[in-house]
Amino acid sequence: LRIAVLVSGSGSNLQSIIDAVENHTLTSQIVSVISNKEDAFGLERAKTHHIPAYFINPKEEGYDEKLLVRLQEDQVDLVVLAGYLKIVDANLIKAYRGRIINIHPSLLPKFGGKGYYGIRVHEAVLAAGESESGATVHFVDEGVDTGKTILQKTVPVYETDTPQLLQQRVLHEVEHKILVEAIKKLEEA
Ligand code: GRF
Repeated sequence: LRIAVLVSGSGSNLQSIIDAVENHTLTSQIVSVISNKEDAFGLERAKTHHIPAYFINPKEEGYDEKLLVRLQEDQVDLVVLAGYLKIVDANLIKAYRGRIINIHPSLLPKFGGKGYYGIRVHEAVLAAGESESGATVHFVDEGVDTGKTILQKTVPVYETDTPQLLQQRVLHEVEHKILVEAIKKLEEA
């Protein structure tokens, strides 16, 4: 599959896909990495691995149009939102329905939707006294974190957990694994 990865931050999820492509766990290729943040480290990761990296400025006119044109020009088969913190435009959803996936650091539908992103997800999980947490890879539809689940994996929550400790456990033990596994499933579909 020709994959475009959309990032807004450090891109550790992107890195897990890059590594899986390079060690041939995945047969796909990442044709572009796109960010709405000029300083997203994910763009650096792309450049290090000689993957075309694009910053599209959300403050300028036509952000959504530019993004869609970029994907179409690159003949992208699968769009992966990996730590991408912007709501996806309805035209993009329509153009890529069933071919756009997102990873969210909770067991959706719990702790998903507007306002639940980054460390706030894990703060809410701890505040709710959950005994387990995890992450979900799902298809993206018009809602926020509401599309059909592809893969989900749990981790235990410990009494001694802080939001940071839980975030790191979910990120390293779950997110980086299930995102690659989900793409592998789609390769075989
Ligand atoms: C991760 O928790 C991811 O689940 C969320 O954004 C966070 C940062 O991801 N969507 P990354 O390190 O930028 O891939």
